[in-house]
Amino acid sequence: MSELETAQAMDEKDPLAKYRNDFVLNPNEIYMDGNSLGKLPKKAQKDVQNTVENQWGKRLIRSWNEVWMDLPLRLAEKYATLLHVSKEELLIGESTSVRLYQVLHALVKSDLFPKHLGSDNLNFPTDLYVMEGVARDLLLNQILYIDYQQEIYADLEILKNTIKKNPGIYCLSLVSYKSSFLYPMKILNLWAEQHQSIIIWDLSHAVGAVAIDLEKTGSKIAIGCSYKYMNGGPGSPAFLFVKKELQTQLFNPIQGWFGHQNPFAFESVYKPKQGIDRFGSGTPPILSLQAMEAGVDITLKAGIESIRKKSRLQSQFFIKGIQEKLVLLQYRLESPTDPKQRGSHVTLSHPASWQICQALLQGNPKVSKIIPDFRPPHFIRFAMTPLYTRFRDLQDVLNRLEEIIVSKEYLKFDDTKPTVT
Ligand SMILES: Cc1ncc(COP(=O)(O)O)c(C=O)c1O
Repeated sequence: MSELETAQAMDEKDPLAKYRNDFVLNPNEIYMDGNSLGKLPKKAQKDVQNTVENQWGKRLIRSWNEVWMDLPLRLAEKYATLLHVSKEELLIGESTSVRLYQVLHALVKSDLFPKHLGSDNLNFPTDLYVMEGVARDLLLNQILYIDYQQEIYADLEILKNTIKKNPGIYCLSLVSYKSSFLYPMKILNLWAEQHQSIIIWDLSHAVGAVAIDLEKTGSKIAIGCSYKYMNGGPGSPAFLFVKKELQTQLFNPIQGWFGHQNPFAFESVYKPKQGIDRFGSGTPPILSLQAMEAGVDITLKAGIESIRKKSRLQSQFFIKGIQEKLVLLQYRLESPTDPKQRGSHVTLSHPASWQICQALLQGNPKVSKIIPDFRPPHFIRFAMTPLYTRFRDLQDVLNRLEEIIVSKEYLKFDDTKPTVT
């Protein structure tokens, strides 16, 4: 059996294969960037069209009471089911950056934890920027930035020792955007608790790809975006989880009318809502919210355990191909090899990474275009998105990565990068 036939046989046995048809597919294109922006579910197109044409176009302001006020609540319930928390602990809206700002600010003001803010070099830059801003505005010391001197693994001993020596408020990305490193959530939550600390988990690169049980792992606060593996659409709203027992001790620094006990009484004095809704600020973005419902529905229907199982199989398949063929051609694996320590993307590097990306994107008459994701200085990320990635796609990508180097095709492209990569 050829490698491609083996991959096709795996597709035939794949219980999730049918979900690929729920997405808008582009012929002759292999999409490997679902960890930046997920694909468009066919149902989302219809839902948004209905919202625009009927609810906005015809029912106008009446739609708030008829459908729109319930929409964020319905979405919260679905995300709560996915993350194993109660619907009273989850709120949909704003961006991940804004949610992080709100909870960091609230935690510092609450006096519940020592006032050290900390994170590490595997975290996504927006989280670090928000932390720096909060530290500056609330006159705290600079954030504790743990640099592991490499970008693949978090050194858990260093991380734990830092927390022990400097208890406080930490923020970590459950799956690192660079290497895909997956943190042991439960162990770290317990450690934080034993050392007067809290970890805010950024689930952006994990939700929809990794099975997450916020309750069982002892998590207290989590944030994340919905536009990657959750297929919620460009800039779709974020989610916020705050454990019930913490909610009334935290105060929203952006106290807008949607966090008020009775926004439509138009009172001049602010009275925060009691539960998670106190983190509401402005009017919910209905079109974006509606666009994100189909994505969470597909994930719940397919089941996150099955998605994770396929993701592990696919990344093992892909990594095996890299190790067998590509390492000889100067490709380097920049993700953990142990699947228990890895999310759903696999990162590679190569001295000619940028040129390789250009060749993948351009394709040629004999091969599909491949959409990867480039992250400076030299990382190429490939996301396994089990709802629509096929094993044969992965084999095609492996073959193409080999061909681009062996045929020296990459030399046709220069090394100059545009602003958005
Ligand atoms: C881990 C992580 N956090 C946050 C963000 C971005 O957050 P926002 O929703 O504010 O754009 C990203 C975007 O890729 C991310 O990967």
